[in-house]
Amino acid sequence: MQLLLAVLALPLASAQLNELAQKAGKLYFGTATDNEDIGFQNKTYLQILNDTKEFGQLTPSNGQKWFAVEPELGVFNYSYGDVVADIATANKQILRCHNLVWHSQLAPWGYGISYLEQRKPHRRSHRPRNQRSQTLVQPMLRLGRGQRSPQRRRDLSQRHLPPSPRPEYIRIAFRAAAAADPHAKLYYNDYNIESPNNKSAAVRALVRDLKKEGIRIDGVGLQSHFTAGSAPSIDNLIWTMEGYTKLGVEVALTELDIRIMEPETSSNLAQQSSDYKNAVGACMLVDGCVGVTVWDFWDPVSWVPGVFTGMGSACLWFGNFTKHPAYQGVVEALTNDTRRGFGGGGGHNGGWW
Ligand code: G3I
Repeated sequence: MQLLLAVLALPLASAQLNELAQKAGKLYFGTATDNEDIGFQNKTYLQILNDTKEFGQLTPSNGQKWFAVEPELGVFNYSYGDVVADIATANKQILRCHNLVWHSQLAPWGYGISYLEQRKPHRRSHRPRNQRSQTLVQPMLRLGRGQRSPQRRRDLSQRHLPPSPRPEYIRIAFRAAAAADPHAKLYYNDYNIESPNNKSAAVRALVRDLKKEGIRIDGVGLQSHFTAGSAPSIDNLIWTMEGYTKLGVEVALTELDIRIMEPETSSNLAQQSSDYKNAVGACMLVDGCVGVTVWDFWDPVSWVPGVFTGMGSACLWFGNFTKHPAYQGVVEALTNDTRRGFGGGGGHNGGWW
């Protein structure tokens, strides 16, 4: 009997993230990756990236952004993003493209609408075979510190489009992408929309309006860049995700990472583990949540230390490729289909990205 129990326990102990997510009915557990980062020079990093039991979906962190694909007006170069797309194709991993329109990492020569018009025919002829979804419109609403209502970003569209009471460029982007590719899932993707607040209410209103106008939108991506100790509670995450799915779209955690204040301690790593478990657990408990993508998996390539002074260790693997306790937190979330064992949390992540 003891032997039998030990044998039964073995596969669970070594089970990996994508394997578990798919077993639990999700489409994938995935990661972002950047082929120009140091990870691609590291054998162990590449082994983990290519291990489809670990990751069933890839997102290029930078290689498909406007600065990369159209460095000069009318000159298209997809090679940077295609490295990741090709790996995903070879491994039969799902590809989430990233991103068509956002305010950062723009092409140096122009902005906004001209981009959409220029890029449309090229998107049609350049669709990786395994592309499932396209992050279409990135943060276009901004909830500043101390502001109660989200504002439309003034830095991109409003400088380049005629004034309009509605964010017209969002409609243009969704229409153009739907025409260019009828198969890709089209997502609105944003941060600070993981909890009940004015910004998530504004996104619900946007989804409602687009649908009313007959514009195809298939999903809402919750970026989920959290801080250990102030990540949203599982109840708030579930409530917010269901607020979107009730409108007839799917949802996904698209850029999950949970940063801690350095140095690492057993206490902040335990908090991080509980916060990862809540985030992934929330996706598990919402039928319309299709999967989770971590925003890279190895601490040395995380974007966090470059932006948040004194913070880091936001990923699931340490620099020496041992796993954070949070890896086990995620495993527990993927294997526990009840609310039992999920801790609290709360709070709002201020930010600018
Ligand atoms: O490629 C240059 C390199 O030539 C140069 O030597 C180096 C010096 O700093 O910079 C390199 O560019 C960096 C680029 O990433 C590629 O590594 C930029 O400085 C750096 O700012 C840029 O950061 C990216 C960030 O978006 C830009 O806002 C991160 O890698 C990327 O992970 C991050 O991803 C965003 C999502 O797209 C949208 N949601 C938020 C998320 C985190 O900011």
